Amino acid sequence: MPTLTWLGHACWLLRTERHTILLDPFLTGNPAAALTADDVPADFILVSHGHGDHVGDTARIAHRTGAQVIAMYEITQWLEKHHQVTNAIGMNLGGAVELPFGRLKMTLAHHSSTLPDGAPGGNPCGFLLQVEGRRLYFACDTALFGDMQWIGRGGLDAAILPIGDLFTMGPEDSLEAIKLLRPRKVFPSHYNTWPPIAQDAEAWAASVRRETDAEPLTPKPGEPMEL
Ligand code: NI
Ligand code: MN
Repeated sequence: MPTLTWLGHACWLLRTERHTILLDPFLTGNPAAALTADDVPADFILVSHGHGDHVGDTARIAHRTGAQVIAMYEITQWLEKHHQVTNAIGMNLGGAVELPFGRLKMTLAHHSSTLPDGAPGGNPCGFLLQVEGRRLYFACDTALFGDMQWIGRGGLDAAILPIGDLFTMGPEDSLEAIKLLRPRKVFPSHYNTWPPIAQDAEAWAASVRRETDAEPLTPKPGEPMEL
């Protein structure tokens, strides 16, 4: 059974029986980080968009572990040109790829994606994963959008949604997202890293229970959860 661990901010670690998949590894400079860039394991690194709180330590971890990076084409090109990351798969929205751990589809996200040096990162994205018979959706940094109802078709075992507000959807819109996606379990992300995105996770969980059919889970950074 896969396990999912929040490493703080929007960084998640998904472990299957044979593989470790790291999403948006912003650990250095992340006050909520549960692991460091020198300790975190990774066979694959998924990067949702170009902002520094998502690209984070990608190059450093990829060099240390040899992990393959999966991201928007503009981001993998930038990582190769500026950080010598050559083991990467560049994709674009709507595309899917079969990987050793399962199937990955790059989904829409409504956000921006400028890289730390000002280079354009293409479109931001989310990820729909099929691993060990489970379907997981990482919305990543996004506003609420109606096409989430299509992403939820086929069923979702878990959805990981931002709730921090200000830069992404907040708690209120996340409830609408859950109604469109209809996941079995839902995890909050992109909150409590800094005061501008502080949220009350337990109040959010209570509203999810009251208004939707999903089971809200609010792990502490570093605490693995079974899917
Ligand atoms: Ni962002
Ligand atoms: Mn962000």
